[in-house]
Amino acid sequence: EVHSKGTSLTELEKAAGEKMSSFARGYYSHPGEGGQTYRDNCQAFKRYRLIPRNLRDVNIRDTSVTVLGSRLDLPVAIAPTAVHKVAHPDAEAATAKGAASMNTLMALSSWSSQSLEQVAEAAPRGVRWFYMLFYRDRGRMKRLLERAERAGYAAIVLTVDQPLFPDSIRRKPASFPVQFSLPNVWIDDDQPGPLGSMEHGAGLAKIAKEAATWEDVKWIKNNTRLPVVLKGILSAEDARIAVDLGVAGIYVSNHGGRQQDGVPATIDVLPDIVGAVGGEAEVYLDGGVRTGTDVLKALALGARCVFIGRPALWGLALNGAEGVEEVLQVLKHELSIAMARAGCAKISDIEPSLVVHESYYLY
Ligand code: FNR
Repeated sequence: EVHSKGTSLTELEKAAGEKMSSFARGYYSHPGEGGQTYRDNCQAFKRYRLIPRNLRDVNIRDTSVTVLGSRLDLPVAIAPTAVHKVAHPDAEAATAKGAASMNTLMALSSWSSQSLEQVAEAAPRGVRWFYMLFYRDRGRMKRLLERAERAGYAAIVLTVDQPLFPDSIRRKPASFPVQFSLPNVWIDDDQPGPLGSMEHGAGLAKIAKEAATWEDVKWIKNNTRLPVVLKGILSAEDARIAVDLGVAGIYVSNHGGRQQDGVPATIDVLPDIVGAVGGEAEVYLDGGVRTGTDVLKALALGARCVFIGRPALWGLALNGAEGVEEVLQVLKHELSIAMARAGCAKISDIEPSLVVHESYYLY
């Protein structure tokens, strides 16, 4: 069933919840310990108010934007999330098709159930980034960087807010209801036992590097021709260090509340980070983006584009590639309406003066 343009993400979340297995629902919607940060991500957007500009010509609106040189039809991209096979049998290939049909970007997770090459082939014209893990063996990282380059990925994303590997992957045997391998972690079928097994956990502990440092970022930067994006930045100081190292993209994220609970909502730290970066890198944001006005507010506060994590999975679970497309279509439509009401005909018209915090602090 394909929903109309008027459908909201809240409705799609509800419909997806009814369709997903209880395992998928629990895994995807898990708000992290306590859930304070997850709730705050969503609620914080509502604490910013819009001050529209009227009587500007907004008959024709253009939501397109350029992200690290790639032109996207909308400033909403797909965040890297693990094992899409739990949501839909067509998995990441379907997500990639959905994103490509809306001409937007998908970041593929290292924890994907299909190889980065398979996902690239599924949507050859799509724009893709690859989220790579930190490994102890630099030869392994080098091989993965080369694979991503060869398969046409446009950037390397390093997730820096996960210094400890998730228990669910390493220590606590999880009984996934579907069978899959991890072809972007294990090469040449060297995966030591199924995901969730003790052998797998032990094998991962052997190859993965916990608590990576700036030295690892430097090494990766020097060993790929692709631009590097750091995902999980919440501190203006860290953003500044990254920019000084030549990082091309600062991706403000708290992992959708799934890492440290009690860290701030991403939209609340965005302005400081944008200030520290001073236009020397692009800044992105994810966490709790659910409406077109959320997108508008994030862009007004300085994000080049935003990413969605869970909403893409709801779409995928509902209807495969078409479901992902629909989620993006809803956000594009809502953004276009919000832009008209704010007096913005194009993305570059979206300025800081459009947004005021509920405390009426002006940016
Ligand atoms: C994630 N996220 C994530 N991030 C990452 O860097 N690597 C990963 O493999 C995953 N895996 C993952 C799985 C699932 C099920 C979820 C929900 C999230 C975090 C993700 O990229 C993103 O930061 C958040 O999901 C954004 O918040 P929203 O849009 O879900 O509110």
